[in-house]
Amino acid sequence: MAFVNHIAKRAFSKSATMSAIKNVTVIGSGLMGAGIAQVAAQTGHTVTMVDIDGEAVKKAEQRIKTSIQRVAKKKFGGEGPDAEKFISDAIQRLGTSTDAVASVTAADLVVEAIVENLDVKKKLFSQLDAAAPEHTIFASNTSSLPISKIAEATNRKDRFGGLHFFNPVPVMKLLEVVRIPETSQATYEAMVAWGKGMGKVTVECKDTPGFIVNRLLVPYMFEAVRLVERGDASPRDIDTAMKLGAGYPMGPFELMDYVGLDTGKFIVDGWAKAYPDNPLFQPSELINKLVSEGKLGVKSGEGFYSYKK
Ligand code: CAA
Ligand code: NAD
Repeated sequence: MAFVNHIAKRAFSKSATMSAIKNVTVIGSGLMGAGIAQVAAQTGHTVTMVDIDGEAVKKAEQRIKTSIQRVAKKKFGGEGPDAEKFISDAIQRLGTSTDAVASVTAADLVVEAIVENLDVKKKLFSQLDAAAPEHTIFASNTSSLPISKIAEATNRKDRFGGLHFFNPVPVMKLLEVVRIPETSQATYEAMVAWGKGMGKVTVECKDTPGFIVNRLLVPYMFEAVRLVERGDASPRDIDTAMKLGAGYPMGPFELMDYVGLDTGKFIVDGWAKAYPDNPLFQPSELINKLVSEGKLGVKSGEGFYSYKK
């Protein structure tokens, strides 16, 4: 199995209409970018997955290979020629790059999934805006930042929106589609159609902090940390309680480790700055401490729990 670099050989789809998204560029090859790129390739799109960090791309390729095998096993009930073909076709459609600007010149859709930082995202989109064809739709997978603020970096607010996926992308069925006042109806419809083609159930949400899921989920996770900070209960017992008492698949500490404590911190730091009076948006000393120690959760090998083999 080999990931290909098909930026050069990909035809420039000048005539692509908004309802026919074929070429997709995913910027960021971390937890989310790799998952989005994988599912896009599995569902027939030509995909370029980009990261500034070449090592991150290599790690993402490994994660995608493992994940796609799990998907194929489930889809085809085990190994066999159909599963093999599904895997090799998807891998063939998925190219990689470390050059974001060069990777968007033939894109119908760009999905950004880089670090949760407004200035960094704006800088990226302003560079991409100059390089991408006019018809290209830009979307951010941000968890918490205002889409309208990110779109300000471009001259294509009518072709800009939020496409918020959930981790792990190959498994989670939801896609939040976020429109800003300037998002055109054609852009919105193209994003919804693409999301459904990715096999996701789409819900619409206005450009509000955390959209639907994170507006509920992030305060819940930070309330769980405050329980621990007050000494009311341990992470292990809180996780057990929420799994067995509320039927959640993961407890809040398992979930924070899974999402990434750095991402959780970026989300709440941004909200605390923008809405200092909201008690649900207050940073946590314990999360700050763990992040400063490099304990980011599953991806770094340790967070609230240890994942070292
Ligand atoms: N790729 C492909 N398939 C995967 C996978 C992956 N990365 N992870 C799990 N699977 C599949 C497995 O193949 C398995 O399928 P079968 O049972 O049919 O074999 C199935 O999913 C279950 O996997 P596991 O048995 O390994 O583990 P599990 O039953 O504990 O499920 C989980 C894992 C799906 C992650 C589940 O624990 C879960 O739903 N957790 C909650 C996840 C969640 O809340 N995500 C949202 C986070 S918030 C967010 O994303 C937004 C944000 O902006 C921060
Ligand atoms: P991550 O830390 O796993 O990966 C981010 C990747 O972006 C890294 O590989 C990094 O090298 C790369 N990157 C940083 N700046 C870049 C740039 N200028 N150009 C190209 N690549 C760059 O992060 P993640 O968890 O995948 O989150 C990515 C985005 O998705 C964030 O906006 C986050 O809020 C959002 N999100 C995260 C989750 C989650 O559960 N982790 C869920 C939904 C949405």
